[in-house]
Amino acid sequence: MSGDLIMDSETAAASFADVRPDLEIFLSEALAGLGATPKTLPSKYFYDDHGSVLFEQICELPEYYVTRVEMALLKDIADDAATEIGPGARIIEYGTGSSEKINILLSALDNPAAFVGVDISGTALQGVTQELAKRFPALAVHAVCADFTQPFDLPDIAGPGRKVVFFPGSTLGNFAPDQALEFMANAASIAGPGGGMLIGIDLKKDEAVLNAAYNDAQGVTAQFNLNLLRRLNTECGADFDLDTFSHKAFYNADAGRIEMHLVSQCAQVVSLGGQSITFAKGETIHTENSYKYSVCEFQELSRRAGFEPLHGWTDSEQMFSLHYLSVAPQEAV
Ligand code: TRP
Repeated sequence: MSGDLIMDSETAAASFADVRPDLEIFLSEALAGLGATPKTLPSKYFYDDHGSVLFEQICELPEYYVTRVEMALLKDIADDAATEIGPGARIIEYGTGSSEKINILLSALDNPAAFVGVDISGTALQGVTQELAKRFPALAVHAVCADFTQPFDLPDIAGPGRKVVFFPGSTLGNFAPDQALEFMANAASIAGPGGGMLIGIDLKKDEAVLNAAYNDAQGVTAQFNLNLLRRLNTECGADFDLDTFSHKAFYNADAGRIEMHLVSQCAQVVSLGGQSITFAKGETIHTENSYKYSVCEFQELSRRAGFEPLHGWTDSEQMFSLHYLSVAPQEAV
């Protein structure tokens, strides 16, 4: 990990701490995943600068309803959430790749005191925090470029207002259930006694709608998936032939999740970090899961993590849910 603290003189209102994983960690995690059976790669590496741009494009796709429905729902419920959160709030957002959702929340809040954006992609994060620092001059804005699946230090944002973790985009669904529980328990301890969490969770629904959302006609999701291999080529000297891997995504109803894979179209050997990785024709690299929850399933998970679910909001078509959770006193650290 690198640990530089960069202060941009033009935007002194935003601090920027860079603790993103370095190349050796990327290579060793990739080798471990590709050496396993079945083969996997960690999905957090989708998000370099190129991947973040592709993800922004995914959010605009007609088939990918998630972002649009969440944005509309967030606009509808922002005032209710703000009333619950109260004045002088200190907001910590995980996955600050774009400013749209956090803008809606901050605009609805009564005099928010501090904002910490955490994201693995530095360029996207820096853009957002600079914009927020300009738009909300009274807000103390901090950017932490980090892999939030690993422990890292948060800047000091002490103050009397409520501490609230904001975790939109159904990113929790990209964790396996045990990791999701661990992440939620950690969020409860960060928010602390009296704190809360505002989280977006994609709902279980018609499988055809889910399958279409991760198999767009323009192939942007395929490019996003293949970005993992492109990064291994450019950053770790691998020799993946991107034309010989294809994107595959489908809803696994038993597991309650969308699975994304890259399928080798032929038998081949790829070299990475001095090792040879053998692929059979049709063999897949499992690159990501996106778990879907019912409102009850998610509320149950949040209770087990030490939260009390106070509000669950859904859109009229039951596509997506937003939840406000409060840290249950007996679980407070
Ligand atoms: N968390 C969102 C979801 O699972 C966004 C996302 C993560 C995504 N990885 C993705 C969207 C891959 C499309 C493809 O939907």
